[in-house]
Amino acid sequence: SIVQGAGAAAEKGNYRHFMQKEIFEQPDSTGRTIGAYTNILRQTVELPGEGADAIDWSEVKYLYMIACGTAHFATRVAEYWFEQCAGLPVKTDIASEFRYREPALAKEGGLALFVSQSGETADTLAALRYCKEQGLKTAAVVNVPTSSIAREADLVLPTLAGPEIGVASTKAFTAQLAALAAVAISAGRAREQISRDAEIRLVRALTELPRLMSTTLQLDERIAELSRDIAKASDVIYLGRGVHYPIALEGALKLKEVSYIHAEGYASGELKHGPIALIDEETPVVFVAPFDGLFDKSLSNLQEVAARRGEVVLISDAAGVRAAGETPASRIELPDCDPFIAPILYSLPIQMLAYHVAVEKGTDVDQPRNLAKSVTVE
Ligand code: G6P
Repeated sequence: SIVQGAGAAAEKGNYRHFMQKEIFEQPDSTGRTIGAYTNILRQTVELPGEGADAIDWSEVKYLYMIACGTAHFATRVAEYWFEQCAGLPVKTDIASEFRYREPALAKEGGLALFVSQSGETADTLAALRYCKEQGLKTAAVVNVPTSSIAREADLVLPTLAGPEIGVASTKAFTAQLAALAAVAISAGRAREQISRDAEIRLVRALTELPRLMSTTLQLDERIAELSRDIAKASDVIYLGRGVHYPIALEGALKLKEVSYIHAEGYASGELKHGPIALIDEETPVVFVAPFDGLFDKSLSNLQEVAARRGEVVLISDAAGVRAAGETPASRIELPDCDPFIAPILYSLPIQMLAYHVAVEKGTDVDQPRNLAKSVTVE
């Protein structure tokens, strides 16, 4: 109705779509979440909520992280963090696979962690119930504190993203990442895998994130410009290494969801094992590659793509852009950041890119065809 239309317009403020508003809210929503998980004065991580010490991380031997969609990609990033910070063996799984597989679970010392924005995704909830039946301890990173998953998990780790209206998840994803990063630090400390100095560095990196996100959002115009070209493509490939591999997967998902352009995310190292066959001048290849320890490897992949006349879009920082020289057709230069938080920061340009391509194509950005915000039936 007209009335509802006006209400929705008001809530969107000056933004054209909820997705855009939610992308721009991320310095706040991530900052709020990080604020809830850190003690700035003591430069330490402190998990929020009652029963935060319900899990003794020094006793955990195996971490299962289970989720769907974008939340699954948050767990895929977190997998690297739990391994690096806490030396913890991790298995991530898609809830719909996990629940029907009769997985062999480490009942002694196994912890199952579920990630969900809505807290109502049918497969994730079923997987949680399965783990509880099996006698596993459970924890859940959820955005809706009154949801079924929040009620049923032993420990709730809230994300403070606020209500997310756009069907394609943006600010909930970065809030999930922020919360998981903090939990990984906390686990690392409990397991004596990180030093006090390292904890201080990582906490500082987290608290710097909102400011870096604000700077990154200033790239919006530049990304909008670039998206006009990408909107003409019928296939787009996203490549990343290490923690940026799941960001490449999320970038491809975001583009598919809102622009309906076919996109694939791959680990850069897999380029030669298949996707390179798709490269031609019609296929944009987006590299998510800050100048970190893996950059050289990404650069050689980038050159391989350029040599086959693929249209390379490099998302990197000043050093990465400099090192790549004129090879990439387009460059998006993010501010320098600590490698620990880079996947959270690099989520923004891939969201902005998907958003602007969708606008360019004229799709229903906030309610893409065939998709639901919360998949509460199988
Ligand atoms: C749907 C949404 C996605 C979301 C996924 C998982 O597919 O469209 O944005 O990532 O469900 O939802 P959840 O609420 O469990 O995070």
